[in-house]
Amino acid sequence: MITLNVTYKCRPGMREEFLERIMAEGIDAASRSEEGNLKYDYYLPFDGSDELLLVEKWRDGEALKAHAAAPHFRRLGEIKSGYVLETAIERYCGQEASGFLELAENRYSVRRFSDKPVEKEKLELILKAGQVSPTACNYQPQRVYVLQSPEAMEKLRKCKTSDFGETLALLVCCDKDECWKRDYDGKPSGEIDAAIVAAHMMLEAWELGIGSTWVMHFIPEAVRWEFRIPENEEPVALLVMGYAAEGAHPARLHAQKKPLEETVRFF
Ligand SMILES: Cc1cc2nc3c(=O)[nH]c(=O)nc-3n(C[C@H](O)[C@H](O)[C@H](O)COP(=O)(O)O)c2cc1C
Repeated sequence: MITLNVTYKCRPGMREEFLERIMAEGIDAASRSEEGNLKYDYYLPFDGSDELLLVEKWRDGEALKAHAAAPHFRRLGEIKSGYVLETAIERYCGQEASGFLELAENRYSVRRFSDKPVEKEKLELILKAGQVSPTACNYQPQRVYVLQSPEAMEKLRKCKTSDFGETLALLVCCDKDECWKRDYDGKPSGEIDAAIVAAHMMLEAWELGIGSTWVMHFIPEAVRWEFRIPENEEPVALLVMGYAAEGAHPARLHAQKKPLEETVRFF
């Protein structure tokens, strides 16, 4: 992944107009809809300066090259000449993230794994991230099955239709007898607890450079049979994991998130 932090030093008092032109001409929307674009956002720093910041993330060099050849990129260059005095570009490659939000934003469902095995030390850290997850009343009803032997992976293939070439999978179950139940209606916390554990592990894995995809499309009865899951446990989440294969990339809609106004309500 390639991240570009572009700072435009605009002519005094002109940065808002410059941004308006960019929006009005649809340059931001066209860039976001390009294959391989993961982020394309403008920011107006609150410091009263004349700077406009653009943060772009691209899947790889090829995507960036295609962007540089796009007509809307050329158009941006034309508009820019009327507003911008100086342009500074910082370029970062790889998965480095400077904070949690960036890590969460960079993560994507990896659906093509290399055959490089996940190191034991990294697996331990991933499991630890699950161990420290919050669970209702701290009852910790999660049961994590580590599937990594060739035999286990062969069995797993019988339980689902997808195969991303993974060499490791974590099956997160919840113990229905050991989870907390809400006193007034009996609602059990087990599946929620297990999902939180899975999410922690998925993000820790990414932090360690290991990709994963959360797979719900498995056959619970088959999993139960192949791995001798007892009746009191419910298989909740399957994380297939490993190092991303060369050419692995986010799905086209990965970065398309609903605006907060659609999913968040303030009272
Ligand atoms: C509960 C859940 C179930 C999912 N099940 C599947 C699945 O069965 N197969 C699959 O390929 N991806 C599955 N995914 C991955 C989502 O499709 C993916 O997270 C979503 O499209 C957003 O893309 P991103 O993870 O690359 O950001 C699942 C994700 C979640 C959270």
